[in-house]
Amino acid sequence: MEEDMAIRIEQNLFYVESKGLSLILENRDGYLMLKHLGRPIPSYHFSNTVHEKDHAFSGNPTPDIRTFSLDTQRQVLGQHGLGDFRKPSIQIQHGATEVTDFLYVGANIYSGSVEATGLPNPYSVDQAETLALVFEDDQAALRLTIYYTAYEDRATITSFSKIENYSDETVVIHKALSVLADVPAGDYDVITLQGAYAREKTVCRQQVEQGIFSISSNRGASGHAQTPALILADHEVTEDAGSALAFQLLYSGNFEGFVQKNQLSEVRVGLGINPENFSWELAPNQSFDTPVAMISYSHEGLTGLSQESQAFVQNHIIPSQFAHKERPILINNWEATYFDFKKDKLLELADEAQKVGIELFVLDDGWFGNRFDDNRALGDWTVNEEKLGGSLAELIQGIHEKGLQFGLWVEPEMISVDSDLYRAHPDWAIQVPGYEHTYSRNQLVLDFANKEVVAYIKQVLDDLLGNHEIDYIKWDMNRNITKLGNGKTYLETKMQSHAYILGLYEVVSYLTEKYENILFESCSGGGGRNDLGMMRYFPQVWASDNTDAIARLPIQYGSSYLYPTISMGAHVSAVPNHQMGRMTPLETRGHVAMMGNLGYELDLTSLPQEELDRIAAQVAHYKTIRPLVQFGKHYRLINPSQGSNQAAVQFTYQDRTVVTYVRVLSTVEEIEPTLKLKGLEEDALYRLEGTDQVYSGAELMYAGLTVVLPQGDFLSKQYVFVKK
Ligand code: DGJ
Repeated sequence: MEEDMAIRIEQNLFYVESKGLSLILENRDGYLMLKHLGRPIPSYHFSNTVHEKDHAFSGNPTPDIRTFSLDTQRQVLGQHGLGDFRKPSIQIQHGATEVTDFLYVGANIYSGSVEATGLPNPYSVDQAETLALVFEDDQAALRLTIYYTAYEDRATITSFSKIENYSDETVVIHKALSVLADVPAGDYDVITLQGAYAREKTVCRQQVEQGIFSISSNRGASGHAQTPALILADHEVTEDAGSALAFQLLYSGNFEGFVQKNQLSEVRVGLGINPENFSWELAPNQSFDTPVAMISYSHEGLTGLSQESQAFVQNHIIPSQFAHKERPILINNWEATYFDFKKDKLLELADEAQKVGIELFVLDDGWFGNRFDDNRALGDWTVNEEKLGGSLAELIQGIHEKGLQFGLWVEPEMISVDSDLYRAHPDWAIQVPGYEHTYSRNQLVLDFANKEVVAYIKQVLDDLLGNHEIDYIKWDMNRNITKLGNGKTYLETKMQSHAYILGLYEVVSYLTEKYENILFESCSGGGGRNDLGMMRYFPQVWASDNTDAIARLPIQYGSSYLYPTISMGAHVSAVPNHQMGRMTPLETRGHVAMMGNLGYELDLTSLPQEELDRIAAQVAHYKTIRPLVQFGKHYRLINPSQGSNQAAVQFTYQDRTVVTYVRVLSTVEEIEPTLKLKGLEEDALYRLEGTDQVYSGAELMYAGLTVVLPQGDFLSKQYVFVKK
C-alpha cells in the first residue's frame, strides 16, 4: 500500500486509513479514544476531543483525576464495570467477576488482512493493511486484540477481535461484539432493513433518540425480520448528500446491533453476536475470534454509501470466481410443479426453457427419498429414481444434452422425523431430551454443533456433488432453531448456536472450495438468511419467496441499500401470483425481475405460444443489459415504499445506461413522471437505443426523462441509452 494510506502509528496516535474512510485513535493511559471515524482529513492537528470535565456519577480510572471518565469518552472498546455505564462490547466471567480492565500494551501492523478463524473473512488483498491493537488484563490473565483492516481502493474498514486466555483457569465469554464505535454527539438517523417472511429488507428510518434502539435475532439465523446491519446517518442525509456510516456483520447466526444515545447525547453503535443465547468457555491457552464487521462510509448521501457497500461486497466478499461473472438465466420448477413432477414433465419444461433462451434448469424440492410433500424425508438425500424415471445422472445428462446447465435444490441442515436419517440418529436433531419437539414446517434442525453431524453432511454432499455434473446448488433452510440442549452441560448449550454456525461455515467453506465452479444460491424460505456471512460462500441469494413483481419492488429496493444486484435472484412467476393473487402484466413482471439476476419460475409448458415468444424476447433483451445490471452502478430514482405508487431504478455500466420505471396501480389521471437520471456525463450525448433520439447527459439529469407508458395494460417501461 502507498505510504500515505493504510496504517500509521505516530506517538500515541493510530491511523487506519482506507481510501475514503479514516479511523483515528489516541492512547490515553492504556485506554483508546476514538478521535475520528469518517471522511479522511489530509492534515489534522487534533483539537482536544477528550472530554475533560467532571460529569459526576461516572467512574474515574485514575485517583485524583475527576475529569476523566470512560463514561464520557468516545471509545472502540466498551468494558463492563469500569464506570462506563453505556452498553459494553465485552463481558468475560473470570473467577467470580465479569469486570475486566484491558489496557493497551502494543500494536502490530500486517500487510494484507488477518483472518478470523473458522469464520467468513473478506478476501485478503495486497492493497490492504491491518492494525492489531493488543490489550491485556494482567489480573485476569487475558489478552484482547482488535484488528482493523484498511483497503486502498475503498471507503470501508473491517474489524474483528480475538480473546486469548493465558491464565490457568477456564473463563467464560458472555459478550464479545465485533465492532463498537462512539461517534460525536449529534442528530442522527438510524436506518435498518427490517421485514418478515415474504416481505424482507424493508427500509426503516428513524431518528436516534435518547435511549437504546436495537435490532437482533435469536432464531439461530439472521432471519427475515432484521438484517445484521445498521446505517448511522446525518439526520438530514438524502440520497445524494450528507454523511452516513454502515456497520455490517459477516455472520449468519444470532446477532445484536444497537445505537445508544446516552444522558449526554453521546452516540454509541455496537454490532456482534447476540449475547442473549450465547456464552463461550475458553480454557487456558485457547482463543476466541468474533465475526468480522464491516464499516463503510460516504459523504455523498445514501447512494454513495450503497455504492460503496455494493462495491466492497462484490469485490471483497462474494466468491471471486463469481463476482464478475454473468449469472445464468434460470428456470426453477418450484412454482411450476411444486412436488408434483415426473421426469417427462421436467424434460418438457426444460425443452420450453431452452427454446426461449434460458440457460440453467433448476430442479427444486422433491427429488429425493419419500419427499412427496413437505412433511417428510429431509435427511434422506438419495435420489427417488421412480419419480425421476431413472438416475439423477441420467436426468442431468438429458438436461445437458438440451444445452442447459443443471441445478439442484438441497436443504442439508434439516431432518424430518419421518426419515431414515431420524430413525437411525434421532439424537442428531436439536432438542432438549424429555421435552416434545417444537416443529416448524413439520421439520427439525440437525445439530451442526455436533462434529459427527458435520462430518456426515459433508460426506453426503461430497458424494452428491462429486458424482454428478451439477452446475448450481440452491441451499435452502426452512425453519429456525428452538429447544437448544441436546443433553449437554448448560454452558455447552449456551455455546450451541454459535457452534452451529461454525459447523455450517465448515461445511460450506469445504464444499465451495472443493467445487469452486458450482454456483451456490442461498435461500431460507427466501431471504431468511440473506447476510454477508452466507454471501462469502454463496454468491447469490433467493431474496424472497414472494415472487409477486409489485411486492418485490420494496424488497429489491431495500437490498440495494447494502448488497450488490449481482447477489440477488429475481424470477418471473405466474399470474395470478401464488403468494399475492395479483395480476401483473408479463412485461412488468419481466422488468422487475430484470432489476436482479433474471430467472423464471412458472410452468412454461402451459403458456400460449404468444407468451412464450414474449418471454423469448425478454430473455434475449436481458442478455444485452445483463452486464449493466450485474456489474453496473446502481441508482435509486424513486422509492417504491411508503405508499408510493411507483418505482424507478437506473444501472450504468461503461457506456450504457438502463432505466426501469414501474407504476404500481394504473391510473388515468396521473401525469407522466419525469425521471432525473444520475451519474451521467453532462456534456456527453446519449442515444436512446432502438431510436435516433439523442439527449445530453445534462438534459437527462437536470431536465429529466419523461416516461410515456404504452397504451394498454402496461405498467412499466424500460429505456436503454448508449453514450455516443
Ligand atoms: C422454500 C424456498 O424459498 C422455495 O423457493 C422452495 O425452494 C421451497 N422452500 C421448497 O420446499
